[in-house]
Amino acid sequence: QSLKVGLIPADGIGREVIPAARRTLEALGSDIPKLQFVDLDAGFELFTKTGTALPEETVQALKECDCALFGAVSSPSRKVTGYSSPIVALRKELDLYANIRPVAAVAENPEDKPNVDLVVVRENTECLYVKQEVLTPGEHGLEARATRLITERASRRIGKMAFEIALGRPRKQVTIIHKSNVLSVTDGLFRQTIRDIPQASEGRYDGVKLEEQIVDSAVYRLFREPQIYDVMVAPNLYGDIISDAAAALVGSLGLVPSVNAGDNFVMGEPVHGSAPDIEGRGIANPLAAIRSAALMLRHLNYAAAADRIDKAVNEVIREGQVLTPDLGGSSKTEEVLDAVLKRL
Ligand code: NAI
Ligand code: MG
Repeated sequence: QSLKVGLIPADGIGREVIPAARRTLEALGSDIPKLQFVDLDAGFELFTKTGTALPEETVQALKECDCALFGAVSSPSRKVTGYSSPIVALRKELDLYANIRPVAAVAENPEDKPNVDLVVVRENTECLYVKQEVLTPGEHGLEARATRLITERASRRIGKMAFEIALGRPRKQVTIIHKSNVLSVTDGLFRQTIRDIPQASEGRYDGVKLEEQIVDSAVYRLFREPQIYDVMVAPNLYGDIISDAAAALVGSLGLVPSVNAGDNFVMGEPVHGSAPDIEGRGIANPLAAIRSAALMLRHLNYAAAADRIDKAVNEVIREGQVLTPDLGGSSKTEEVLDAVLKRL
């Protein structure tokens, strides 16, 4: 048995942090099956050289892999003809319908808010992101309209994903984020579909506590008392906003991991971008990418291996001796990686 991992560093510091994540996985030894890595191309730089941001070979090769790690893509600030983000296309191609972002405080870091330990589970395929927008002349000037798609199928599968994640956590609580008081049809369907999941689960989710919260007050409470949340499940747009807001509770972008997950594939991806301002200087924080590798393993049910990585990362942060400049230190990417490897 072996585990085939696609590696797509893509642009900028993606090429500095993905190798660090690879070396962390390699250091796990017998906790996981034998690893096989497949190096794959994508990104804006590739587009400028070849005219394609996501080669068909990359997509095909990924379909042969068990999982993948993605670095970051640069997006041009002006619209560039023919370019569209490869990460968005990959989520579609591989049906990665959930974006999962855990946000947890590492104790004794004075910047952290107390007891933040939550996971945002964001629906990744529909809502306003179906991008069906039209502009028409109206009686008093232009009128813009957007379609918001919410389906029972997508709501049910993201809801189930949230319940499954909650089962693996100590508090076992799911909070549905919605705005049914105003959008009773779309958000109403999202909310009701998820509320119906436990009854149909034949007892599987009996131990999970189900709560719900209107999105605006959820953001308010997220900042005032983040410790009340465990797993937050949300439609695409609310999930996008909440997951960035939650990341702000624990400091540097260089620390926050995510995975894009479907039923048959999982892709780890640090939340940060390609960071052109620090590219090529060897000072990118590799911890978000390393944690994304751990999260990918957790999703594949290698919890013990994931725990080992998370523990090593948390020790490095807590000790505070070997940190990159974004966390106030003066160490290099390599030195932080070595510190993690030593603790593994
Ligand atoms: P960014 O996340 O690349 O950088 C924001 C700030 O955080 C910068 O000052 C950067 O130096 C710092 N930073 C980010 N990751 C870091 C790390 N690992 N270690 C140390 N410092 C880190 O976001 P920005 O600057 O808005 O975007 C830069 C490029 O990345 C753009 O082309 C943007 O479109 C793209 N981007 C891609 C994303 C993705 O691939 N999913 C997500 C966000 C932005
Ligand atoms: Mg976002």
